[in-house]
Amino acid sequence: MNRAAEQPEPNPLREGLSARAVPQPCTIVIFGATGDLTQRKLIPALYNLAADGDLPPAVAIVGFARREKSDDEFRTELEEATRKFSRQAVRDEIWKTFAQSIFYHQSEFEDEAGYKTLAKRLDEIDEECGTRGNRLFYFAAAPDQFEPILKHLKAAGLNETCKGSWARVIVEKPFGTDLASARELNRIVRHSFSEEQTYRIDHFLGKETAQNILVLRFANAIFAPLWNTHYIDHVQITAAETLGVETRAGYYERAGALRDMVQNHLLQLLCLIAMEPPIDLSADSIRDEKVKVVRSLRRFAQSEIAANVVRGQYAQGAIDGKPVAGYRKEPKVKSDSQTETFVALRLYIDDWRWADVPIYMRVGKRLPKSATEISIHFKKAPAVLFNKNLSDQNVLVIRIQPDEGISLRIHAKVPGTSFRVEPVKMDFHYGTSFGKASPEAYERLLLDAMSGDATLFARRDEVEEAWAFIDVIESAWSAKKDAPGLFPYPAGSWGPDEADDLLARDGRAWRRL
Ligand code: BG6
Repeated sequence: MNRAAEQPEPNPLREGLSARAVPQPCTIVIFGATGDLTQRKLIPALYNLAADGDLPPAVAIVGFARREKSDDEFRTELEEATRKFSRQAVRDEIWKTFAQSIFYHQSEFEDEAGYKTLAKRLDEIDEECGTRGNRLFYFAAAPDQFEPILKHLKAAGLNETCKGSWARVIVEKPFGTDLASARELNRIVRHSFSEEQTYRIDHFLGKETAQNILVLRFANAIFAPLWNTHYIDHVQITAAETLGVETRAGYYERAGALRDMVQNHLLQLLCLIAMEPPIDLSADSIRDEKVKVVRSLRRFAQSEIAANVVRGQYAQGAIDGKPVAGYRKEPKVKSDSQTETFVALRLYIDDWRWADVPIYMRVGKRLPKSATEISIHFKKAPAVLFNKNLSDQNVLVIRIQPDEGISLRIHAKVPGTSFRVEPVKMDFHYGTSFGKASPEAYERLLLDAMSGDATLFARRDEVEEAWAFIDVIESAWSAKKDAPGLFPYPAGSWGPDEADDLLARDGRAWRRL
């Protein structure tokens, strides 16, 4: 592999964490091009980049899938989807030019010949479009297809770089289903692409406010002295969704909320909150610090799981006043399904900074509201002067979505002749402060992969450490004897009562969202 080609070119104009890299001309090959992800996220993200003038000067997109269709049919399908799912309204003249760079390649994933013709087609596209032999392979297919795709890419020589060009692979989640399968997948990927060529996507890392966590922590001097066990009482992380399982039961029945959201998105957010300052902003310096957090998570013994992890499953209830079915009545879900749609956990990071600070996390489907936020609850002021009767603490809230922003709860005197003290909020909203909408996570991440910047992608060791932590919980849940219960909760509620008890036992409560 040509390592020189992997060095990002400097671009002082790019905003964000990685102000170093500039996206390079390339062809993006999407495996699983007729699937949901391509239509809802990938093509709309690429269109928005094109509309904002952020794409490199030459980009081509090749959809690789089984069904027969022409380039034009594929373009029409994608146009419909983009009109439906795009962040910005589709402008005809921009779509017209953008669509010219979209192509369709029909092949079975297991068919060697299909990759040989792909290689030929990519060479032609390089000639036609000026994409310079750079290739970004996006794995949006089902995970059991990854192995044949990788094998055939290698056999066709498409994993190699030559004449200063590069080849990279973006792998979608789920990245394995446990530690053993993640290791196996890593091994298979490694066989064809080096770690530097591999980009494991976790779209939460591309969310604007998630990226802002490091800026908040390391560009502001006031928080650093307080960011530790001496001043922080506890941390809460909530990722709530009103949506149910929708049409994804085939995947979700085998995954459940712990694998679907905690192993990746929630642990990644926790890493950004808890990591030590990196020595610089390079991908590896940041990921070196993040992986230490996962490694420092206190590992539960199987007998401790019930006291620290609560799992729930939504039953029939109502969302926004409309009745909705319980999980077991959803299409393709087993009538006695044991899959959790809600998890609440109490974790500890056993390092110097976080010793004995509880971290409470909860994630669930069919909750009353869609919102993701992190709250840092500071210790109470001494119970003298104004604070004798105050039960509230100072709380720093990082709203990941919606209404991205940051707020700080402080105490203030209520105007008037008496000395009444009440909590008030200092509030920063991205939308109003910067007057422009945040890009979608996939926009940022695709651009970073085109730039060779892996900062916002999960490294091999991060993924494996996270699975090692999750595996203990999964195996306690699947034990034949004394497995912790699966508690039902009505759709539209904040999960089972047992999740509230988890905090109540420590004299705390979940923040109201
Ligand atoms: C995905 C999960 O990774 O993230 C879904 O598989 C979940 O179950 C989704 O709904 C949430 O992402 P977002 O960006 O909509 O909050």
